Amino acid sequence: MTNRIRRALLFMPGDDRRKIEKGASLDVDSIIMDLEDGVALSHKEQAREVVRNALNEVNFGHSERLVRINPVRDEHSLWINDIQETLEGHPDGYVIPKVESAEQVQRVAEHLTRAERKYGWIDGSVRLLAIVETAMGFVNMNEISDSDPRLVALIFGAEDLAGDIGAVRTPDGWEVFYARSKLVLYAKARGLEAIDTPFVDLTAEDSHLLAATEQAHYMGYTGKLAIHPRQVPVIQSVFTPKAEQIREAKALVEAHNQHQAEGRGVFAYEGKMVDMPMVRAAEKVLARARAAGIKVEEL
Ligand code: COA
Ligand code: MG
Repeated sequence: MTNRIRRALLFMPGDDRRKIEKGASLDVDSIIMDLEDGVALSHKEQAREVVRNALNEVNFGHSERLVRINPVRDEHSLWINDIQETLEGHPDGYVIPKVESAEQVQRVAEHLTRAERKYGWIDGSVRLLAIVETAMGFVNMNEISDSDPRLVALIFGAEDLAGDIGAVRTPDGWEVFYARSKLVLYAKARGLEAIDTPFVDLTAEDSHLLAATEQAHYMGYTGKLAIHPRQVPVIQSVFTPKAEQIREAKALVEAHNQHQAEGRGVFAYEGKMVDMPMVRAAEKVLARARAAGIKVEEL
C-alpha cells in the first residue's frame, strides 16, 4: 500500500495481549508491538509468541501491524529470533531501534527478502522503520536514510538520545532540538517520513501533548509515536489537514493553475505573494488529506 498514512503509531509491550487487542480496536494508523525495551529480558521469548499469535488471530482493521525488534548487533543477539519467530504472522513491517549504520538496516532487509521468497509474499513488501536515538546514529544519518528501499520512515527517539549524550530532558526540549530537526531534513531528503518521539508524561494535561505534537507538525514531522490510547486522537487530529486548510489549498492550487495558463509564475493571492514553494506545500496538504481518506473534491 503506497498511500498509507502514519500519523499516530501506538506502542505496546509485545507480551501484553490485552493491550494489543485494545490497540487493534482503536482505529490508529499503526500499531507497534514491542519486543525491545518495553519487555523484560525474562519475557522476550514469551513476547515473541504473543506477538506471533496476535498477528495471526487479532483483527487489526486498517491499522498497520508493526513489530519492534531488539537492536541489530551480532548474529547471536535477540533480534534474529525476534524476526524469525514473528515472521510467520506476516507483519506489515519491522521497527529497528538504535540504528547506527546502513548495514544494520540491510541485514534485517536480507532476512525479509529470504522470507518473502519462502512464503511467496510480494518482493520488498515488508517495510522497515528505523529509530535513530544514539549519537552515532545521528552522525551516520546520511547513510542510514539511504540504506534500503524498504525503509519508509525515520523515527526520532529523544529519551535514549538524551541518555546517550548525557543531556538532561527539559520541557522545552532544546537539548535535543538539533537532532530533532536534523532527522526531518535527512528523512525528507530521501523521501522518507519523519516520526517524532513519544510524549512520555502520562499525567500531563492534553494541551501539553497537543503543543508538542503541533510543534512536530510545524517542523515537518508527519507522525508521532504514542504510548497510551488517550494520545491517539490528539495526535491523529494534529496530523490530519483541517477542512478549512484543504479548501485554502485547493483554492491556491486553482489560482496557480489559472495564472500559469496566463503565463504568470508569481502572483498575489488574498494579499500574499504566491509562488512555487507555497503551491507545493498546498499540494502536500491535499495529498495528505487524500491519504487520510478525506474526500477532497467534495469540500
Ligand atoms: N496500548 C494499548 N492499550 C493500552 C496502552 C497501550 N500502549 N496503554 C494502556 N492501555 C490500556 C490499558 O490496558 C487499559 O485497558 P483496560 O481498561 O481495558 O484494562 C487502558 O488502556 C487504560 O490504561 P491505564 O490504566 O491508563 O494505563 P496502564 O497503567 O495500564 O499502563 C503504561 C501504563 C505506560 C504501562 C502503558 O500505557 C504502556 O504499556 N504503554 C506503552 C509502553 C511501551 O510500549 N513502551 C515502549 C516504547 S516507548
Ligand atoms: Mg528507545
